[in-house]
Amino acid sequence: MCGIVGYVGPRTAIDVLVGGLQRLEYRGYDSAGVAVIGEDGSLATHKRAGKLGVLQRDLERQPLPAATTGIGHTRWATHGGPTDANAHPHLGDDGKLALIHNGIIENFAALKDELVDEGAVFTSETDTEVAALLLGREYRRTGDLLTAFRAVVGRLHGAFTLLAVHEDEPGLVVGARRNSPLVVGLGDGEQFLGSDVAAFVEYTRRALAIGQDQIVAIRPEGIELTDFAGRPVEGEEYEVAWDASAAEKGGWSSFMAKEISEEPEALEQTLLGRVHDGLVVLDEIAEGFPDDALRAVDRIVVLGAGTAAYSGLLGKYAIEKWAGVPVEVELAHEFRYRDPVLGPNTLVVSISQSGETMDTLMAVKYAGERGARTLSICNTQGATIARESDAVLYTRAGPEVAVASTKAFTAQVAALYLFGLHLGRVRGVLADEASRALVAELQALPAKLQQVLLQGDEVRQMARQMSDTRSVLFLGRHVGYPVALEGALKLKELAYIHAEGFAAGELKHGPIALIEPGQRVFVIVPSPRDGASLHPKVVSNIQEIRARGAHVLAIAEAGDVAVLPFADEVLRIPLAGTMFEPLLAVAPLQQFAMELAAAKGLDVDQPRNLAKSVTVE
Ligand code: F6R
Repeated sequence: MCGIVGYVGPRTAIDVLVGGLQRLEYRGYDSAGVAVIGEDGSLATHKRAGKLGVLQRDLERQPLPAATTGIGHTRWATHGGPTDANAHPHLGDDGKLALIHNGIIENFAALKDELVDEGAVFTSETDTEVAALLLGREYRRTGDLLTAFRAVVGRLHGAFTLLAVHEDEPGLVVGARRNSPLVVGLGDGEQFLGSDVAAFVEYTRRALAIGQDQIVAIRPEGIELTDFAGRPVEGEEYEVAWDASAAEKGGWSSFMAKEISEEPEALEQTLLGRVHDGLVVLDEIAEGFPDDALRAVDRIVVLGAGTAAYSGLLGKYAIEKWAGVPVEVELAHEFRYRDPVLGPNTLVVSISQSGETMDTLMAVKYAGERGARTLSICNTQGATIARESDAVLYTRAGPEVAVASTKAFTAQVAALYLFGLHLGRVRGVLADEASRALVAELQALPAKLQQVLLQGDEVRQMARQMSDTRSVLFLGRHVGYPVALEGALKLKELAYIHAEGFAAGELKHGPIALIEPGQRVFVIVPSPRDGASLHPKVVSNIQEIRARGAHVLAIAEAGDVAVLPFADEVLRIPLAGTMFEPLLAVAPLQQFAMELAAAKGLDVDQPRNLAKSVTVE
């Protein structure tokens, strides 16, 4: 939510900033702006409502002065609508300094009153402008950007990443973070700042994670890291595991199309090095969660939001089945406001692609403060949630740029399954032979998923025929239920169509009233080979809705002929064990939502009102 870039060094700053913003645009795309300190020593800035392209076209027509220091911002509006005036940067009252912000300054109203009493004039409706005006006032008092910045940051409450430059101090960008992301890119004679490494990975893969409540000053020759009180602190340097091309579209029509195609690889990578002799070995969590600690766990609470929470639901089915530990799945934003009961043996597992989702981060902190042990499943190296947890199990889906999550979901489910298998064996619930058979199924999935993705043309056809559809329902039972929820979420967010996912058994308890002639309903059909006799029950559910005129689109196992008389259209998935079917059934639904959005002429990668990394509560 909001992308931030900063640069000092010999390059043309505006190119670095705009390139970085392009890579961060998925974080927010309702306005954008830049500020540079020109070689003539003056601050120059430009900002525009609309996508980054609007700003870029302006800058091509009227370039800013040549500069080697600057900051850039792409916005997802919180305080004040997406207008030119509310876009960042915001300036100090003498126009000599510029500041950008990601997050929410919770005490902005009190600070604004104080500034207004002193005669300050506000030109925007944002909370950010208080920080810019306060910084101007402090700079006049101290004559030093870093000192002034420290004084301002110390007065702010809430969540923020702030970057600032001042024209009297070219070659310096200062930054601060509390509960919002900020990473340094370490170069040779140049330094970068970004909301995430995508901002600078084109130039350097050496990154330094900035901790909570820390301030960084970057100059071409190096960086200075302190806490808010000015005491020096050590940063944690790491090598970015992927290169710039991983975050490029590479000939695909959209990032989403590319990322769906990468799902088999995301699965493979997530399993890589975590299976030895056919059994799961999770060395990376052994320090935080030695076997004794895992044996002592008596309850697991899984936290996440949106798609991540749905992957958590699949984790629940797997962990309960394989490890025999009760699992609750809770939306992270509900969790900490209801006095949840956490015992010393409660394990809290958080799931987050970005590792920065504020709702999830706050829930993890809350759980940690109340004595629970925390494990995160996260896709972004060095992310805040990972750092706040006792241990992290990284998914290795690579950078996910499209706002709608696809390959990250698949990788999250795989990571949860790995954890469930590990837990089951450590606790003696799952014998080695049974475990090996399940691991083999997991390892067979990438090739099967590759086969599923070959049906892309069929799915496109189906979506095109439905481009004027106003409502689609999704039904599933058991592990098909989270798939139904995820299919509906994808369709809502991408194609702006009313969509709902239901547990198929719930239908007759109310939702069946929605069925009228022509109502499109996707049904995730379990395997007929399944011993729990779910298949005939779902087929009965299909008959019930068909009898009321529903148009049924079934996702069914290859060779399942029992479903044919009742389905209007069928998409096939290869044979897999019950627990593994969701990893095959979800891809056609992701493709369907993408194709339907494309058929409606919508922006598949950047759906309206959304941002990829939701760093406000
Ligand atoms: C939907 C989607 C969101 C995210 C949710 C959590 O396609 O992407 O629902 O899953 O905002 O994000 P992370 O996983 O970054 O915590």
